[in-house]
Amino acid sequence: MSNWKRVLLIITGGIAAYKSLELIRDLQRRKIAVRCILTRAGAEFVTPMALAALSGDKVYQDIFSLTDESEMGHIELSRDADLIVVAPATANIIAKMRAGIADDLASTTLLATGKPVVIAPAMNVRMWEHAATQENIGVLKDRGISLIGPNEGDMACNEFGMGRMAEPSKIVEEITTFFSVRAGDTTPRLGARNGVLSGRRAVVTSGPTHEAVDPVRYLANHSSGRQGHAIAAALASLGAETILVAGPTQQPDPAGVTVKNVQSAVEMMAACQAELPADIVICAAAVADWRVANPPQEKIKKERGKNGNKTSAPPVLQLEENPDILASISTLKTERPALVVGFAAETNSVIEHAKSKRISKGCDWIVANDVSPGTGTFGGGHNTVHVIDGDGVEDWPVMSKEKIGFRLAERIAQYLETFS
Ligand SMILES: Cc1cc2nc3c(=O)[nH]c(=O)nc-3n(C[C@H](O)[C@H](O)[C@H](O)COP(=O)(O)O)c2cc1C
Repeated sequence: MSNWKRVLLIITGGIAAYKSLELIRDLQRRKIAVRCILTRAGAEFVTPMALAALSGDKVYQDIFSLTDESEMGHIELSRDADLIVVAPATANIIAKMRAGIADDLASTTLLATGKPVVIAPAMNVRMWEHAATQENIGVLKDRGISLIGPNEGDMACNEFGMGRMAEPSKIVEEITTFFSVRAGDTTPRLGARNGVLSGRRAVVTSGPTHEAVDPVRYLANHSSGRQGHAIAAALASLGAETILVAGPTQQPDPAGVTVKNVQSAVEMMAACQAELPADIVICAAAVADWRVANPPQEKIKKERGKNGNKTSAPPVLQLEENPDILASISTLKTERPALVVGFAAETNSVIEHAKSKRISKGCDWIVANDVSPGTGTFGGGHNTVHVIDGDGVEDWPVMSKEKIGFRLAERIAQYLETFS
């Protein structure tokens, strides 16, 4: 079981707690180990004995248990997991999570964890629709907590409406997708509409380009490729057939994505053209505007005389313009992609420059970001972007590059559903 993924399943006090038994069994079948925390109310609906028997592990219930805390305290429980799943998630635990209340083992673990958390709410329709619950859910989502369900349907309380817990099979599907995409070290948003881009083909460019000066030297920039790779991972997780044309980067290949590695802008252009036609093209790479004209086949030597004195002037590099990948794809006369998105990395007047770039290149959207020194955008884990389309400017809050990837992929899915 050493290579199994590990889920910490928190079962709270709702009727749907009985479904956790099926959930545990189905996760184990997919080589996902489950360890359970059961709240006091949860134990009214499902027995620790049944959970222990199915999970093959001890069930953790009491934060003040001497044996539990010395064997596997609340910090270790979270540390040991790859993902925390709260299913069912009562209105109560959702409110506690929002408020940061830590008055039992489940809520303390949730407050103390840095691991990704997903919740499967389950409650009566009125509890679900209550302004307090809706506000709590909104805050949790903004904090990056993912939701699976709830669904509409008949309830145990003889009512009908929103609030039924998602079926265990759906929860298992989301968790499995999460782990497969995470192999590329991107964190998808669980609860995203998986499969919504299936049947679509996406080409994403990412990373810098290296423009040869001679066989051993090159011109480059600080792009890490993290944002472009995250976008490719997100599109693939929503079901798009995704091709990532990547300049030289240290990023791992995202799972489920076909990666074409290139060095220069000319190679990137050729690789993109070879992958067309496509429904979606995202040009996130920081492509060099210029390359060295006619780089020599041999290394340029620094000539020195016998006494070490310089005998030659520094070489003069003649530059020529690189092909404009974004503009050429945006202005294709035949088989233009339904959506072409460019990125604008700017250091001043970010929005104005990005707006004029959208017009001059002929693309549909521009994602603008400030890459001034000090912003930490290049190579950092976070980004602050502005999405500019024909309707105006959408300012997104600072987010991880992975989250931006998923939000952009969702926006793309919605756009294509509406317009193509
Ligand atoms: C029969 C019964 C069924 C319940 N079902 C739910 C439910 O489906 N969802 C919910 O949010 N609360 C439900 N509750 C209320 C919770 O059990 C209660 O709010 C409890 O404090 C939750 O504690 P916990 O979140 O620590 O598990 C139910 C209570 C009873 C008595």
